[in-house]
Amino acid sequence: MTIQWFPGHMTRARREIEAKLKLIDVVIELLDARIPLSSRNPMIDEIVKSKPRLVLLNKTDLADGAVTQEWVDYFARQELQALPIDAATGTRVKEIPVRLKQMLAEKREKLIAKGVNPRAIRTLIVGIPNVGKSTLINRLAGRNIAATGDKPGVTKGQQWIKMGSELELLDTPGILWPKFEDQNVGYRLAATGAIKDDLLYTEDVAFFAMKHLIARYPAFLAARYDLKELPEGELEADQIVQIMEQIGRRRGCIQSGGSVNLEKASMLILRELRAGTIGRITMETPED
Ligand code: G4P
Repeated sequence: MTIQWFPGHMTRARREIEAKLKLIDVVIELLDARIPLSSRNPMIDEIVKSKPRLVLLNKTDLADGAVTQEWVDYFARQELQALPIDAATGTRVKEIPVRLKQMLAEKREKLIAKGVNPRAIRTLIVGIPNVGKSTLINRLAGRNIAATGDKPGVTKGQQWIKMGSELELLDTPGILWPKFEDQNVGYRLAATGAIKDDLLYTEDVAFFAMKHLIARYPAFLAARYDLKELPEGELEADQIVQIMEQIGRRRGCIQSGGSVNLEKASMLILRELRAGTIGRITMETPED
């Protein structure tokens, strides 16, 4: 579910997260491995402040593995631990409790040294809609519990999910808004399916995605759509459209009169991109 964020929504979402933050020791920031910066809330540092934070790069099954590693290194340079996961199948999800405990180990040892028996470490997942928060909560809980109301203000009773004896997770995630001010960010969010298609023109989103695919993943494109010759170097807009038309023709996106239906072709390209059918593709690198 995707919502449109207005200033009132953002204020309310922020207040809800800040209330939840008071209850927890460590934050889990969930990002989309295909667009780690574009799927990041612009005010996250300010909202989380000095709480320890574990970054999770989710949907790694759809992302380019080499670039995911570049992102892990990028976050390490900012002194943030980032763990690539796939919440849908559970890849590396078991490492999450281990990392969280490591992050708080020193603090807990100090308490124990003072004779205080520390309570379980409490954590909360925060992220923008569609990044996989409820999928991850369900996986960590080992059962289906998270039915997210992806709207700030739609709250239900909060409960703690026990993950072993030393760790507890809040069963309702913190829902944050993405960045909107940068047009490329909007296109990346739309290309990966994080925001609804109807906020932007499908053809524009597909054009943006194709430009990226031609530049970075030409072999995937050529293989998937049986394209013989992809021109080298930076392409003109009409060359990109021609390739989209070629794909449309190959795949039967034809309108009456016999010309290519570019909107249909665009939808097809985006559907296959989002499903990972074209290949494992990351839409932004740390260098971008
Ligand atoms: P949210 O709570 O943050 O809003 O996200 P949610 O868990 O609902 O996940 C959004 C979509 O992303 C779901 O697809 C979910 O299955 C998918 N997803 C979550 N984690 C992963 C992952 O690691 N890999 C892949 N490939 N997909 C993941 P959906 O139910 O099909 O939703 P939709 O496609 O109908 O929007």
